[in-house]
Amino acid sequence: MADETSQLDTLLHEQRTFAPSEEFRKQANFNDPAVYERAAQDPQAYWAEQAANLSWFEDYDKVLEWNAPHAKWFLNGKLNAAYNAVDRHRTTSRKNKAAIMWEGEPGDSKVFTYEMLGREVDKAAHMLKNLGVKKGDRVTIYLPMIPELPISLLACAKIGAIHSVVFGGFSAKSLKERILDGDSDVVITADGGWRRGKVVPLKGNADAAVEGTAVRKMLVVQRVGDAAETEMVAGRDVYWHEEMAKAPSTPCAAEPMDSEDILFLLYTSGTTGKPKGIVHTTAGYLVGANTSMRSVFDLKDEDIFFCTADIGWVTGHTYIVYGPLSAGATVVMYEGAPDFPARDRFWEIVEKYSVTTLYTAPTSIRTFMKWGPQYVENHNLDTLRLLGTVGEPINPEAWMWYHEHIGKGRCPIVDTWWQTETGSAMIAPLPGITETKPGSATQPVPGILADVVDENGNSVEPGHGGYLVVKHPWPSMLRTVWGDDDRFKRTYFGQFEGTYLPGDGAHKDKDSYFWILGRIDDVINVSGHRIGTMEVESALVDHNAVAESAVIGRSHEVKGQAVTAFVTVKEGVETSPELVQELKQHVVDKIGAMARPEEIIFTAELPKTRSAKIMRRLLRDIAEGRVIGDTTTLADPSVVESLKNQYSNNE
Ligand code: PRX
Repeated sequence: MADETSQLDTLLHEQRTFAPSEEFRKQANFNDPAVYERAAQDPQAYWAEQAANLSWFEDYDKVLEWNAPHAKWFLNGKLNAAYNAVDRHRTTSRKNKAAIMWEGEPGDSKVFTYEMLGREVDKAAHMLKNLGVKKGDRVTIYLPMIPELPISLLACAKIGAIHSVVFGGFSAKSLKERILDGDSDVVITADGGWRRGKVVPLKGNADAAVEGTAVRKMLVVQRVGDAAETEMVAGRDVYWHEEMAKAPSTPCAAEPMDSEDILFLLYTSGTTGKPKGIVHTTAGYLVGANTSMRSVFDLKDEDIFFCTADIGWVTGHTYIVYGPLSAGATVVMYEGAPDFPARDRFWEIVEKYSVTTLYTAPTSIRTFMKWGPQYVENHNLDTLRLLGTVGEPINPEAWMWYHEHIGKGRCPIVDTWWQTETGSAMIAPLPGITETKPGSATQPVPGILADVVDENGNSVEPGHGGYLVVKHPWPSMLRTVWGDDDRFKRTYFGQFEGTYLPGDGAHKDKDSYFWILGRIDDVINVSGHRIGTMEVESALVDHNAVAESAVIGRSHEVKGQAVTAFVTVKEGVETSPELVQELKQHVVDKIGAMARPEEIIFTAELPKTRSAKIMRRLLRDIAEGRVIGDTTTLADPSVVESLKNQYSNNE
């Protein structure tokens, strides 16, 4: 636990705490601390109470059936996620309220009221039906952050098709893996997307990805037009706008879905090579997403909610699409990079749309810190009233900077810990109740029973570290891993029976506040994105110069962690700076740009234990300069050998 203690020392040096202001407390949706006790006493009653905020076609007859590790929530209820996110607002005073205010990277923008969004979703739902998509079919969506992305998700949900969104930064190979694993036969993509003024070639990637799969139809949105060369394959490829024009403009009936019918798959990295298709079902997921909007984000009808994540990740699913829309909010959605055309783009957007709630990642905050406050100061951020962070532990310095420079000392900050698997925020302050401590996600939200335990599953004493666990099922938990229930059981419930293991280490302080310390498995968190070390290792050994590789995450000032690869080359291969570049590019081609190794260190051998396990901690120490300074080549096997000896003597 030596690593943990040093990490904690850095976290804890900010001792100030921040209680909600009286003004904020008074207006908050959740401002009675008794809610925690009440929900802990009877989580099912609490969640049933929250479920009443959704619109049901048919009532459920039982709140929970728990055959660990399999949960069913709101049994036999019937509802539709798109109906809840859009249609139910069309018959109220929200009908003409802005649902999505979209800003394209080049500066174009569009506003969809709930009524307008509803019509688009209906048309897209008809279009999918016309293309032969049926309830239960998997539709893979590989789009940039354009309005057609949430419209596609909602159109799938409307007809009961299962969407599987693949982030546009993934490579053709990663896309193909996900298409094959999800056994999907329809792909929705675009000719390209804008990123820092350049075109991301989505259609080209999609063409390469669908080869050898069952994909029979590819719907192509025109986003960049002449800026990309788009070849349409006759019989397979159709343009979105042409198909939309053929679809009827009549309402499309929302498919009544069972509570436990699958709403979506979303792939995430694990410890083994293959990404896992996380399965979320309709009612539970929606209850989690909707509840957290009202509790953690204190959502009001007047709020303008700006979540800077991409819908390709779970944060975008829950906090751009299903959470805010089911709660009738106005969301701001931005297509591009935070520094395009200039480093004040986010602040320009906050000002332009009068954003009240901003939800972003610590890595972005650290980037803004590095750029300096001058980019913020030119903009009026007075409309902001609440700030959030997600994706990785936030260091107190970044927390304080966010608090001072963005929140102007006035806005509560909600540091939300959760995962693709948990569906919605799990450990986070309630901004009208919780006194926050910079760097701590504070406490589990009402209805969530989380703890920190030792290897035997016993609660650790306050002041100690251990495994973060969740001891009671919750509505928006993953139901299984698509096509691999054994993996689901093994990965998440294999260590402690009936208790969910997220794979994070945590520390509980004397006030029972949780401090998340990061992954305890072979997953690296790069700028809030999960990268499996095995995935990068497989990509590297796939290159013909590489004999063996070991990949670790090393601390990085801005990204949180950076991918560092140790590589041994095959007999006769000369190492060179060109080879480094080639290997980095190889990883980008195989996985995607976010997995690009920050550095590649050639070594004559990899340090292994007697049972042939790679000594990752030693590699991490080497990469972070704790052992032998800044090294780029470990050519001499005796160096590794002596380091190993030194380590084994210390263990
Ligand atoms: O290690 C935790 C970290 O991100 C992981 C989940 O990644 P993903 O499934 O991609 O979802 C990210 C967005 C929900 C977790 O296992 N993580 C996420 N939020 C926090 C965090 N670590 C510390 N503090 C957080 N607020």
